[in-house]
Amino acid sequence: MSYRIAVLPGDGIGTEVLAEGVKVLEAVAALSGLNFRFEHFDFGAERYLREGVTLPDDALRNFRENFDAIYLGALGDPRVPDSAHAKDILLGMRFKLDLYINLRPVRLMDEALCPLKNKTPSDVDFTVFRENTEGEYVGVGGFFKKGTPDEVAMEQSINTRKGVDRIIVAAFEYARAHGHTKVCMADKHNALRFGHDLWDRVFKEIAARYPEIAPRHLFIDALVMELVRAPEQFQVIVTSNLFGDIVTDLGAQLQGGMGMAVSGNIHPGKTSMFEPVHGSAPDIAGKSLANPLAAILTGALMLEHLGQTEAARLIETAAAHTYHARQVARDLGGTLSTREVGDAVIAALKTLQNA
Ligand code: NAD
Ligand code: IPM
Ligand code: MN
Repeated sequence: MSYRIAVLPGDGIGTEVLAEGVKVLEAVAALSGLNFRFEHFDFGAERYLREGVTLPDDALRNFRENFDAIYLGALGDPRVPDSAHAKDILLGMRFKLDLYINLRPVRLMDEALCPLKNKTPSDVDFTVFRENTEGEYVGVGGFFKKGTPDEVAMEQSINTRKGVDRIIVAAFEYARAHGHTKVCMADKHNALRFGHDLWDRVFKEIAARYPEIAPRHLFIDALVMELVRAPEQFQVIVTSNLFGDIVTDLGAQLQGGMGMAVSGNIHPGKTSMFEPVHGSAPDIAGKSLANPLAAILTGALMLEHLGQTEAARLIETAAAHTYHARQVARDLGGTLSTREVGDAVIAALKTLQNA
C-alpha cells in the first residue's frame, strides 16, 4: 500500500518532533512493506512573517484532492503574539476541511507516568470526542468602542443541530465499534441556556438509538473533578470544542504530560489531519529537549486511521519499549535528545521485528 502524506512541521518544537515522527514512519514502512510519499509544506510563522502567507485555498484543495492524510507538528510563535497565522492554518484546516471530530485518546503507557496515586494503565484508558468545527472557536464576534473604557467585546458560540448531532453520533459509533459500554457527554446546560440546551436534547435523542451503551451526562466542571478522582469511570467522552480543548490537556497530564498526547482531526472518508496535542513550546524550542513520542504516537494514530492497524501497534509497542528502557527525554526524567528518542524507537522497532 502506498500513501501520500502532507507534512506540515509548523513552528517551534513542531519541526523537531515531526522530523522524528516521519523518520519512524519511514522505518515502519520499510519493515511492513508500506510506502509513504511525504511532501513537506512550510506553512508557519517564518513563511507568514516573510510573505504574509498563512494557508492558501489552493493548498487546502491540494490536501483534499491529492493526499491521504496531513501530519502536522504545531503552530505558534512569540513573534506573532495574536497567533494570526496559527488560527488561519490550524483552525483553517479544521474548519475548511470540515474535520468535525477531534479524536483525542488518553492512554497511560506506564503507571509511573500518571500523577494520580495508584492508577494503572487500565484505569486511564478513555477517548475524548471533541467537537472541532463550532462553539467558541468560530471567530464570530466583534469589538465596539475598542480601546476605550466603554469597550464591548463579543464572542459568539455557534452550536448547530448538524454539528452537535454528528460529533455525538461519532462518539456512540466509536463506542459500539470498540465494544465500549459507556459514553459520557459533558456540557454546561445549567448555565448556557441555548447552545448547551441543544447538546442536552441531542445527546438524549441519540443515546436512545444505542440501547447497549449506557449514556451519562456530567456538567463539564464535574467531569474534570471526576477525571482526577477516578478516571477509570470513563471510556468515551464527548464534548464541545472549547471544553474538549481544556479536558484533553488534563487528559494529557494523566498520561504523562504534553509529550505523550496524540490527536486526530477527522472527517470520515475525507483527508484528515493528525497532530500531537501539544503546541510549539517556545520555552524549549531549538534545544532538542522536546519529547517526540506524542508526534511519533500520533503517526501511529494516523496509520490506524488509514487501516494499517498492525503497523500502528508496532510503533506503539516500540515506543513503550523505549520508555521501559528509560530511553526518554527530559520531560519524562531522562537525558535523551529529541533525535535520540526517535533513534531509540527505530532501534526498538527493528528488535521487535526480528524477535
Ligand atoms: P505548549 O503545549 O506548547 O507547551 C506547554 C508546556 O508543555 C511547555 O512547558 C512546554 O515546554 C511543554 N511541552 C509541550 N510539548 C512538549 C514536548 N513534546 N516535550 C516536552 N515538553 C513539552 O502550550 P503553550 O505553551 O500554551 O503554547 C505555546 C504555543 O503553542 C502558543 O502559541 C499556542 O497557541 C500554541 N499551541 C499550538 C497547538 C497546536 O498547534 N495544535 C496546541 C497548543 C498550543
Ligand atoms: C489544541 C490547541 C489549539 C486549540 C489552539 C492552538 C488554537 O490548543 O489543538 O488543543 O485550542 O484547539
Ligand atoms: Mn489545546
